[in-house]
Amino acid sequence: MSKNLGYLSGRKGLNYNLFEELGISAKATGTPDPDKMEKLKNEFLFGSANIYGTVSFYDFLKKENEGKKIYVCNGSACMTAGTQAHVKDKLEKHFASAEIGEMCCLGRCHENHAFHYEGTNFSGNSIHHISDILEGNDSGADAYNVSCSGTPVLTSPDLNHDEISLLLKKCITSGHKKLTEALKTSGLRGRGGAGFPISFKLSSCRDTPSDTRFIVCNADEGDPGAYSDRYIMEHQPYKLLLGMMAAGYAAGAEWGVLYIRAEYPESIEVVSAAIKNLYNLGFCGEHILQSSFTFHFKIIKAQGAYICGEETALLSSIEGQRPEVRVRPPYPTQQGLFNMPTVVNNVETLACIPYILKEGGEAFARIGRGRSTGTKLVSLDGYFNRPGIYEVDMGTPLNQVIDLGKGFRSAVKAMHIGGPLGGIVPVQMAEVLTMDFESFQQNGFLLGHASVVCIPEDFPIVDYIRHLFQFTAHESCGKCFPCRLGSTRGAEMLEKAMKNGYKIPTDLFQDLLETLETGSLCALGGGLPLPVKNALTYFENELSPYFQKSEL
Ligand SMILES: Cc1cc2nc3c(=O)[nH]c(=O)nc-3n(C[C@H](O)[C@H](O)[C@H](O)COP(=O)(O)O)c2cc1C
Ligand code: SF4
Repeated sequence: MSKNLGYLSGRKGLNYNLFEELGISAKATGTPDPDKMEKLKNEFLFGSANIYGTVSFYDFLKKENEGKKIYVCNGSACMTAGTQAHVKDKLEKHFASAEIGEMCCLGRCHENHAFHYEGTNFSGNSIHHISDILEGNDSGADAYNVSCSGTPVLTSPDLNHDEISLLLKKCITSGHKKLTEALKTSGLRGRGGAGFPISFKLSSCRDTPSDTRFIVCNADEGDPGAYSDRYIMEHQPYKLLLGMMAAGYAAGAEWGVLYIRAEYPESIEVVSAAIKNLYNLGFCGEHILQSSFTFHFKIIKAQGAYICGEETALLSSIEGQRPEVRVRPPYPTQQGLFNMPTVVNNVETLACIPYILKEGGEAFARIGRGRSTGTKLVSLDGYFNRPGIYEVDMGTPLNQVIDLGKGFRSAVKAMHIGGPLGGIVPVQMAEVLTMDFESFQQNGFLLGHASVVCIPEDFPIVDYIRHLFQFTAHESCGKCFPCRLGSTRGAEMLEKAMKNGYKIPTDLFQDLLETLETGSLCALGGGLPLPVKNALTYFENELSPYFQKSEL
């Protein structure tokens, strides 16, 4: 990343944003208009190479996207459900092949058959009514089970206007120190993967001298199989927005930026309407409730790149730079968006804050197990008899989660939990694991977003790990070679082994995993070996025909 480009982009503020302008320009044809790119280059003093570097990175900006009219979901859940080929076949009756693109993932993992057409997502039975969709007679609305087995922190009804007003007053009158202390007492840790305490980031941001600070909500939920952030944005938007405002109050930030993925058009719509409402009610903007607290919101629509979920790539993305992962330190709380102090938090993390404001930090800390306090939303995919979003207290046995989903609709050998970088959990481990950071880590897995993608008995595990290498190769930001080259080499080896009877030398493969794990700059390349090693451990018999034990 370039610090200078960060400053140049920041000169225009947030309301005239380079990345947003590129997205708007791409809307008509699928790629930005060259004249517009030239104009933006001059206005932002970015240079042709930088603008081209940005545009060529994103699935929905790059030239190859030109002319695409409809997109099929290629996420892991649609893949294991085997619905993608069927959807493509049906669409080819109405569109030329070149007009059909791919998106990953649409968050319709509960019913699969997912595709995206003209700003709306469709799934389940919709593919059987394609003519209705083309005529604009299908809203694409979906429904899934939502329930809670413990304390309803995130699945209780969303805040009404009186509650928002009351909690805002409470937040402003108690002062930032008391609020940060309550968050510390609550033990609230990041739900986006790393499990880092939020109170620490807020204090660090406030302690960094600056006239401007930002709260950035990471709503780039790119993990195939996860749709819990989507649930919050579409059904609990006020908990999220109040959480951002409270975080802003604690950190001394006056701006809240929501980076929402393009694959979730409905989320963008619902959150935009909620923000408009908050402005109309005088609950955000200048001098909120006649206090000195000012907080503005801005939504940035992403353009299709999984790596933008990584917090530093996300910041570069908002700046209109190519979203390459940044070296830390400096951390975002010291030098974040436009080089200013910034706290980046996940949707679910921020949406927990109103509960803490209302009930106190101790009440939140009493839920859960050990250092994993509070609750966790779990997304169950279409292989469950009752797929949906389930809120469970941290520490709930995995077996109980499977029971909430009423078990599997057909034989399943493993669950991929926590996104592409999460662990491949063989079903027998459901007896052992509990839904908390520590249990997953101690047993060699990762809680992550706690999304569950089932791997059915008849789905070859070799094909699944090939898919993970291929996914990483496609999504790698390219900054470090272990990930950029290693992911592609791994995918090639597995493909060759599947198609041509090639035997992968075990020591070469182990070397590759070690290089990825120890040499990658971020958790994309660094995290890929975890599920692969799980597969090698628990499915050795199934995988051994593809490997050649090395001679000593
Ligand atoms: C490849 C990659 C993808 C990520 N994707 C997301 C994401 O989609 N959403 C998210 O909140 N965090 C994601 N993260 C984690 C973020 O970098 C960051 O830790 C998180 O947004 C911080 O918020 P939290 O503390 O509330 O979890 C990703 C990390 C990596 C390495
Ligand atoms: S591990 Fe991959 S995604 Fe992460 S910085 Fe390196 S190349 Fe980029």
